[in-house]
Amino acid sequence: MRYWPILLTSLSLNAFATDISVYSPDKNIKFTFSDTDDLAKYSVEYKGETVISPSKLGFTFETAKPMYRDFNVKEISRDQQDTRWEQPWGEDRIVENKYNELTVQFSDIHDASNKFNVTARVYNDGIGFQYYVPSEGPRAITRELTEFTLVDSHKATAYWIPGQGYERYEYLYNETPLQQVSKANTPITIKMGNGVHVAIHEAALVDYAGMSLNREKLGRLVADLSPRSDGIKVRKSGSFKTPWRTIQIGDNAVDLINSHLSLNLNEPNKLGDVSSWINPGKYIGIWWGMHIQKYTWGSGEKHGATTENTIKYMDFAAKHGFDGVLVEGWNTGWDGDWIANSELFSFTQSYPDFDIKKVTEHGKKIGVKLIGHHETSGGISNYEAQMEAGFKLYQDMGVEQIKTGYVAHGQNLKRRDENGIMRYEFTDSQDVVNHFIHNVTTAAKYQLSINTHESVKDTGLRRTYPNWIARESARGQEYSAGWAAPNPPSHIPYLAFTRMLSGPMDFTPGIFDLDYPSIKGGTEEHGLTEIMRPQTTIAKQLAEYVVIYSPIQMAADLPENYEAKPEPFQFIKDVPTDWEKSVALQGEVGDYVVIARKEKKHRHYSGNDWYLGAITNEDSRTIEIDLGFLDEGVQYEAQIYKDGNQADWRTNPYDIDIIKQKVDSRVKLKVKLAAAGGAAIRFKAL
Ligand code: NOJ
Ligand code: CA
Repeated sequence: MRYWPILLTSLSLNAFATDISVYSPDKNIKFTFSDTDDLAKYSVEYKGETVISPSKLGFTFETAKPMYRDFNVKEISRDQQDTRWEQPWGEDRIVENKYNELTVQFSDIHDASNKFNVTARVYNDGIGFQYYVPSEGPRAITRELTEFTLVDSHKATAYWIPGQGYERYEYLYNETPLQQVSKANTPITIKMGNGVHVAIHEAALVDYAGMSLNREKLGRLVADLSPRSDGIKVRKSGSFKTPWRTIQIGDNAVDLINSHLSLNLNEPNKLGDVSSWINPGKYIGIWWGMHIQKYTWGSGEKHGATTENTIKYMDFAAKHGFDGVLVEGWNTGWDGDWIANSELFSFTQSYPDFDIKKVTEHGKKIGVKLIGHHETSGGISNYEAQMEAGFKLYQDMGVEQIKTGYVAHGQNLKRRDENGIMRYEFTDSQDVVNHFIHNVTTAAKYQLSINTHESVKDTGLRRTYPNWIARESARGQEYSAGWAAPNPPSHIPYLAFTRMLSGPMDFTPGIFDLDYPSIKGGTEEHGLTEIMRPQTTIAKQLAEYVVIYSPIQMAADLPENYEAKPEPFQFIKDVPTDWEKSVALQGEVGDYVVIARKEKKHRHYSGNDWYLGAITNEDSRTIEIDLGFLDEGVQYEAQIYKDGNQADWRTNPYDIDIIKQKVDSRVKLKVKLAAAGGAAIRFKAL
């Protein structure tokens, strides 16, 4: 405590600076609100050491009084929870929700009506804090002042992608000293000098702008909200809550994966019992063919989405146990420059060579669903005008899932305002954030699930709206199709500890043909590299199904390429997409990652088998896996798919050893991963 100069005490309600703290249930994390120097601040300690030193809270507004300077804090209330809840689908069926909560009020020492509350929830795996701003009338936020001031920043390394960038979130990861971060998207992951890992993100992004982080002073990251087209960050009509600002903390990198902080901070399921219509599963699609230029989305000789082709894909799906077939390019609007022509897309009008009734009737007979596709190329208003008609058509045809797309760059999503004027927005501007939620909640009325590509980042809203079944929001496999610089081998070891902390990703794994000509339309602009195809061994393609979590997983390659390699294909056929539990076992950000998951009892899955995926970057390594995660006393047949001795992602990506071995939970398994390689294991309970 510090005594204030006499002049200030006469103004201040608090003669002393106040600290108000709350601890995590295991006491490892201490979160403190303070008003030192009459500024609204918070700080964080982990195991007795400061992680975040006093960091500002508050706002500035277009016209209303700012909220941060000459503010004092007082305690309002405390609470706690120790409960569990069940997910309809997920990495873990049961989630523990255990935290201590503290709500404080910060108020202006000159004007008690100028005030805001902040609620902090402190879990064993991190913190969330949320503002509540009471307001009589509209407010236009010009800045949210939240800071994250990391201690010893000169010793910290950050893993991050740009925020508010041209490619939305589709970037390769930067690994830089924390002090060199510029505007970063979240989640941003940080390894501190003492090895503690931290990830900063947000939860429950609703009717607000997405948060990027700008580095101001060395080590000080400051919220930078995506602006609206009018330059204001967020417009509110009255009192409001912000999304939760989250800080995950762990002793090591895998602790960040083994956390449910973001889900716990979201509101419970608002859709009720969804078991009859939200179905995790696997799918194939008329898709990769377009990316490697075998087919076109638009009409013409190479049109991929024909009735005949779809029926062929459906038959393949039925034969090999896939649930659905995604068909892109079925609707009019693709001809010409589809990225520029968002206003031309129809969501009900098929091309003449695609008979939606015929294909869905065929699918019904053989037990395969059509998976719908709505590419908007960022035309928000064009889509909204037709959205319900598009949903109705698909619902009438028995479709359960729709993949959507918003290919538009930077601040270029098109929204017509109340006066009919076209406005240009970011993927995570307030109105676009609201569009995505409108899309998902409207889809729910038609019992449809949505897999959004070029989506706003995930902030755990799948808990509230479980029909938001997956999204992309990162650089997916498509970048390795030949039209861009492929994802380097380190990409997945980065994704696992960054993007994947936010939620499921439709990465589209499983490319088996690694021999297609090295350049198919790759351009200088996109950055040509030596090998314009997935930089991978085939074993790594299998491991992706376990490492990259999504309740819907695509087998992305062409059917003929799977038929040509039936042995590794068996793993894709076996692996489930819905899990009883998951555990990240080993890894370092950008280097390698090992994750095990136990299948959930469901349909044809007994609920007894475990699966494991391991992926390494450009370095070959041998990992020792302690099988202690397996159920004690159970014998398993380990079906191991690992890089063969000759495996080399540049010259011999197909060399794979598929071996079977009896194991139990006492075994330690050594597996060698080739450079850019991996291993996938099914532990079949005997
Ligand atoms: C981008 C998506 O990520 C990709 O999967 C899709 O094929 C294209 N947009 C076309 O909609
Ligand atoms: Ca994309």
